[in-house]
Amino acid sequence: MEILVTGGAGYIGSHTCLELMENGYDVVVVDDLRNSDLEALRRVEALSGKALAFYNFDVCDQDRLDKVFGAHAINSVIHFAGLKAVGESVGMPLAYYANNLGSTLALAGCMKRHHVRNFIFSSSATVYAQDNRMPLAEGDALGCTNPYGWTKLMCEQILRDLCVAEPVFSVVLLRYFNPIGAHPSGRIGEDPAGIPNNLLPYITQTALGRHARLTVHGNDYDTPDGTGVRDYIHVVDLARGHLKALEYAKRNRGCEAINLGTGRGYSVLEILRAFETVNQVKVPYTIGPRRPGDLAAVYADPQKAGELLGWQAELGIEDMCRDAWNWQRNNPRGYRT
Ligand code: NAD
Ligand code: UD1
Repeated sequence: MEILVTGGAGYIGSHTCLELMENGYDVVVVDDLRNSDLEALRRVEALSGKALAFYNFDVCDQDRLDKVFGAHAINSVIHFAGLKAVGESVGMPLAYYANNLGSTLALAGCMKRHHVRNFIFSSSATVYAQDNRMPLAEGDALGCTNPYGWTKLMCEQILRDLCVAEPVFSVVLLRYFNPIGAHPSGRIGEDPAGIPNNLLPYITQTALGRHARLTVHGNDYDTPDGTGVRDYIHVVDLARGHLKALEYAKRNRGCEAINLGTGRGYSVLEILRAFETVNQVKVPYTIGPRRPGDLAAVYADPQKAGELLGWQAELGIEDMCRDAWNWQRNNPRGYRT
C-alpha cells in the first residue's frame, strides 16, 4: 500500500515523508518543485534508508495524476501542494485560486476514478473568523480576510460536499497552527525563498547575520507583554499528526476538521528569549508598528485531535528553537548550501 504525498518536497511534506517511511509506508511524491528542492527528498531517502517514487509535475494535471494512480497501489493521499503566502495571495488571487482549488479538484476527481478514499488535507488556522474567542475549537465560526485563507476554506467545503455525495470517502481537514523547527538531524528544514515573512525563519536568518535585526510587529497588543501570541508547533509533531490522521481515515468515513496545535501560546518576545537562551546566540531586534491583518493572540483547542486521533504535541518550545537553529546553522543557504 502506497501513500501519495503531493508537495512532499516542501517544508511540512518532507518531514511527513520521513515519518511515513520510518513507519513502514511506501511513499509516492508528486511535486513540481516550484517552492522546494529535490535535495530535500534525497535527504529524506538518506535519513530513512529507503527509496521513494518521485514525479515532477503540476498536481492540477489530471492526465498525469491518472497515470500515477494507475502505476501505484495508492491507498491514501496527503495533499500538501499549494501556494501559501498570505501577502502574495492578495496581489495574485487568481494564481492562488487556480492552484489551490485546481489541485484539490484534480486530486479528488482522480481518487474517485481510482477508488482511493482516504484524503488528508492541509488546512490552516487561518480559516477561523477573526472575532472568535481563544482557544479556537473546530466548531468555531469560520471566515477569511485574504485569498489564501479563502482557498483553504473553499477546499474544505469542496471536500465536505464530496463526503456527502460519496459517503465512502474519508477526509481529514488538518488545521495547522504555526509550524516551526526542523528535523533534529539538521538535514531537512524550512527553506523559504527570498526574505521570510514568518517569525522563526526571520529569527534564524538574523542570528546568522543575514539581517541586521528582527522587527517585532507591535508591542501594544492586549497580551501579557504586548507582542503577538501564537501557537507554535514543532514540524515533527505536526508530521506525526498526519500519520495519526491516516490511521483515523482508514477506520472511519465522512469529513472531520481537526486542529493540530499545542494549545499553548507564546509571544514574540518569549520566542526570542527562548531562542537566545537555548542556542546561546544574540538576535538583535527593534519594535515596529503592528503588521496589518495580524491578531493579538491565536491558539488552538487541541482536544479533538487527542480524542479522535490519539495525538498530542510532545515537543516544546526549546526543541523548536534548538532544531530550527541547528538546521539553519548547518544549512546557511538552505538546500543550496
Ligand atoms: P511548501 O511551499 O514548503 O510546500 C508546498 C510544496 O508544494 C512545495 O514543494 C511546492 O513546490 C509544491 N507545490 C505547490 N503547488 C504545486 C502544484 N500545483 N503541483 C505540484 N507541486 C506543487 O509549504 P509548506 O509550509 O510545507 O505547506 C504545506 C501545506 O500546508 C500548504 O498547503 C500550506 O498552505 C499548508 N499550511 C502551511 C502552513 C505553514 O505555516 N507552513 C500553515 C498552515 C497550512
Ligand atoms: C502567518 C499568516 C497565516 C499563516 C501563518 C503560518 C499572516 C497575516 N498570517 O501567520 O495565515 O497560517 O503565517 O504560515 O501573514 N512577527 C514579528 N516579526 C516578524 C515576523 C513575525 O514580530 O518579522 C510576529 C507576528 O506579528 C506574529 C508572530 O510573529 O505575532 C508570528 O508571525 P508569523 O510567523 O508570520 O505567523 P502568523 O502571523 O501567525
